[in-house]
Amino acid sequence: ILEINSVIERMSQLDAEVTIPLLLKDQLIGIINMGPKFGKDIYSHEDIELLATLGNQAAIAIENARLYEDLKKSKSYIRRADRLASLGTLTAGLAHEIRNPLVAIKTFIQLLPDRLEDEEFRSHFLNIASGEVDRLSSLVNELLEFARPSDPKLELEDINAILDGMVLLVSTETKKKQIEILKSYALDLPPIIVDREQIKQVFLNVLLNAVDATPENGQISIKTRSFLKLAGEPYVQIEFTDTGYGIPTEYLEDIFTPFFTMKDKGSGLGLSISNQIVQDHQGYIAVESQLNRGTSFFINLPLHLDHPRRRKNDFEDQQDILNSIGER
Ligand SMILES: Nc1ncnc2c1ncn2[C@@H]1O[C@H](COP(=O)(O)OP(=O)(O)O)[C@@H](O)[C@H]1O
Ligand SMILES: [Mg+2]
Repeated sequence: ILEINSVIERMSQLDAEVTIPLLLKDQLIGIINMGPKFGKDIYSHEDIELLATLGNQAAIAIENARLYEDLKKSKSYIRRADRLASLGTLTAGLAHEIRNPLVAIKTFIQLLPDRLEDEEFRSHFLNIASGEVDRLSSLVNELLEFARPSDPKLELEDINAILDGMVLLVSTETKKKQIEILKSYALDLPPIIVDREQIKQVFLNVLLNAVDATPENGQISIKTRSFLKLAGEPYVQIEFTDTGYGIPTEYLEDIFTPFFTMKDKGSGLGLSISNQIVQDHQGYIAVESQLNRGTSFFINLPLHLDHPRRRKNDFEDQQDILNSIGER
């Protein structure tokens, strides 16, 4: 009652001549108050009917905006769950990955006092040890960066470098199955504007799928290139080709559907999330597959991203790159 009284008091202060309720399925979600009309007119029956219709539409628009917010939130929860699932896969093998170089380094340290004078021994093992320590430290960094949820951020990024990080993350998995990773990057690949963390999630999903599908001693090749679409728009393409069991033609469309999985313990979310992320970047994913031969995923990202969040100087940086691609 107190609340209603205060509402009545506020309303009487507002000096409203007409009050339009915003109703959604019989629930009051808001009120529009209208002051007196211009001139000396009073609100007619038609006016009020028109205002009621506007009120209905406003209520629907408000509800849509709310639903959209909810949808955005659920999407980000699903993405986070998928990241955690990938992390689970990756960390399982990580202990091994860390222990092996540590054993090597420890052996070196134990031998060192006896071989201190041996110049070749020193430089050889120092090289190996520092290389291994660097590798482990970037592995741990990549893992932490991937685990830490970050705000969406669009920035100019080097796709080849992001790929290297993800290859490092799956190295435990590929070593276990003795899968060879063949890299063939375009060295002059232009940097593009992406959300780094989201794009990592895409690469990791596609890579982990390739590892799952590829038998022991198989190969996964990763290629990057830039190309111009028929209409002339420049794109960057990342190709992942595996020598795995392939995807039956009748399922090629289904693999992007949420929860579609052909694995015993699959979530079926990886590709649907990846597809969504790539679409958010105004790109597209293409797939080619031959049963028992292998599968290729092509991730195509536009160089020129129209986005309200992109900064003006990003565009200037990119303009030079666009020009140089056009010249090729
Ligand atoms: N490289 C690949 N080779 C063969 N099949 C694949 C490959 N990538 C994806 N798939 C198929 O697509 C399905 C959906 O993949 P995804 O959305 O990542 O879910 P999940 O990996 O949890 O099953 C997989 O279950 C698999 O059948
Ligand atoms: Mg997957």
